[in-house]
Amino acid sequence: MFGESFAEAWAARYGAPPTADFPELGPFLRHRSVRAFSDRPVSEELISALVGAAQSASTSSNLQLYSMVSVQDRALRAKLNEFTSNQSQVTTAPWFFAFCADHSRLRLAASGSEADNLDYEDYFLMAVVDAALAAERMTVTAEAMGLGVCYIGALRNNPAAVADLLGFPDGVFGVFGLCLGYPAEQCDAAIKPRLHQDAIWFRERYDAKIGVEEYNARMAKFYKSQSQDPTVTWSQRSLRRLEKKYMSGREVIKAWLEKTGFVRR
Ligand SMILES: Cc1cc2nc3c(=O)[nH]c(=O)nc-3n(C[C@H](O)[C@H](O)[C@H](O)COP(=O)(O)O)c2cc1C
Repeated sequence: MFGESFAEAWAARYGAPPTADFPELGPFLRHRSVRAFSDRPVSEELISALVGAAQSASTSSNLQLYSMVSVQDRALRAKLNEFTSNQSQVTTAPWFFAFCADHSRLRLAASGSEADNLDYEDYFLMAVVDAALAAERMTVTAEAMGLGVCYIGALRNNPAAVADLLGFPDGVFGVFGLCLGYPAEQCDAAIKPRLHQDAIWFRERYDAKIGVEEYNARMAKFYKSQSQDPTVTWSQRSLRRLEKKYMSGREVIKAWLEKTGFVRR
């Protein structure tokens, strides 16, 4: 449904045309989050292929420290939505996956022998990175098949309630959700501009060139095109996200990870 070429997608990201064209890369630059889905079903076979793609992602030491729980039951989805800030896409997406950092499986596999290293924060990070890589590979593959996705970080708003609802054992933590389906016909999700590359790609040594003013100006145009207030800049919006009220319950995560044995050292 979204068909921008590489050059068009590049221009939307950076506000200027690319210096070289790579037509086959168009699909990888035209991502946007989709929050309105059509009723068109997504077959179990396609979903299984997407899970295969997710599992094809690199994974630290092949430990595969992640799991995903798909939630199709409507009542369960509605309940889940209560714990994820009531975002309509959580209930309307044809498929919803809870992506989890998972130490539980390895602990079981290692039963009878020491699994000391799992207690360190690095192994928690590994599991989160694994989950993110798998989800993003699922995303890229799904988008190549004409589907749209929306990540749901709000899955972390209430770790205890989500764990209870989805039956997570200790050592399983819901990192984010992923809504997935064909975009609705009227879905007008647009490619969102990103910071210029010199704000995030440094050569040889880190260089704190942030380039925010120019980005604020480009984002203002984007907000206007999306009927959002262009006078509130990207910087201001980003700072607001750092206000305490936006923790949305996630301030309990550290205690939760310690309680459920995820991080002990
Ligand atoms: C880990 C993660 C969590 C996110 N959580 C949410 C969410 O709870 N709700 C939502 O509408 N979008 C969520 N998003 C989508 C981001 O808002 C979106 O990716 C960002 O604004 C950039 O827009 P784009 O994806 O359209 O390029 C999340 C994205 C990521 C990567």
